[in-house]
Amino acid sequence: MNYFVRRPWDLSQKHITEESIFHNKQERRDFLKSIGVIAGAGLSASLLGCQKATLEEIDAAGEVEEGKKNYPFDRNDKFEYGRAETARRDAVEFTNFYEFSTSKEVYQYVDQFEPTPWKFSVEGLCRNPMTFDLDDLYGQFTLEERAYRHRCVETWAMCVPWTGFPMSDLLAKVDPLPAAKYVQMETFSNADQAPTQKYDEYPWPYSESITIEEAMNPLALMTTGIYGKPLPKQHGAPVRLVIPWKYGFKSIKSIVRIKLTDKQPTTFWNSLNPNEYGFQANVEPEVPHPRWSQATEWMLGTRERFNTIKYNGYGDYVASLY
Ligand code: MTE
Repeated sequence: MNYFVRRPWDLSQKHITEESIFHNKQERRDFLKSIGVIAGAGLSASLLGCQKATLEEIDAAGEVEEGKKNYPFDRNDKFEYGRAETARRDAVEFTNFYEFSTSKEVYQYVDQFEPTPWKFSVEGLCRNPMTFDLDDLYGQFTLEERAYRHRCVETWAMCVPWTGFPMSDLLAKVDPLPAAKYVQMETFSNADQAPTQKYDEYPWPYSESITIEEAMNPLALMTTGIYGKPLPKQHGAPVRLVIPWKYGFKSIKSIVRIKLTDKQPTTFWNSLNPNEYGFQANVEPEVPHPRWSQATEWMLGTRERFNTIKYNGYGDYVASLY
């Protein structure tokens, strides 16, 4: 028997643009407007996908001003890529952020997104629940730049400098109770700003979860910046998580809520397709995904291929957790 399993990047039939509309630029703009994908004002032809966007256009689409004066932060030399850094352009033009688009050119769809001002809460099984805004993050934590490898389950990989602070420092502020076993995280929910959130076949808001031991691992980074600037919208402005030993879908973007719980929470991809997106999702070359062998990976930009390394090469930090 044949099953049709919709892959993460597949749109359902009702969202597929008719070919005739796609080929007519004016109709295409009208169509995009009609489904609320663009506001209609000020987008250049390149951002509408009619020609390749320049880096300046991509930067203008995603740029976030708030927090900029704090950058850059010193790099922590303890972390090294072990290969070449990914060119900034290659990272900013190819991102996964399903709230805005199932394509990789997310920067084309973020113009309605307002990531500032921003607040997120840390609550649940802790003695001191708190809410943080961006000033709190820059004022209360010691931020640094870290050169991390990033590995998506779709087998693309990149090496980028993130700016942030350990999640353990955040949790220390709220003082978890001994009963707290899992850290649940949620992305914002606002279909007026994020067009794909209009479609109810996804279990919005995007959510992820790790164990409290994983969250306390020094590698788990609450991240506010990349390449020496605040995160652009498409990378998960203004604050996301980066967990470099796990597949990228665990590194949740644009966080509004973190909750400490005693039960394993449901998560976005795992609830959509548990056979393909496990809860633990550590980088494991020997464990093939049903659609992608995980034995090798390819770098954004250069397309150079490398053998995948268990835990994405971070075994010294995390192997003792498993
Ligand atoms: N977070 C939210 N809220 N929505 C998403 O679609 N995609 C995930 C993760 N975090 C995603 C998300 C996936 S699949 C990956 S690989 C990484 O973000 C990609 O991070 P990047 O786009 O900044 O490279």
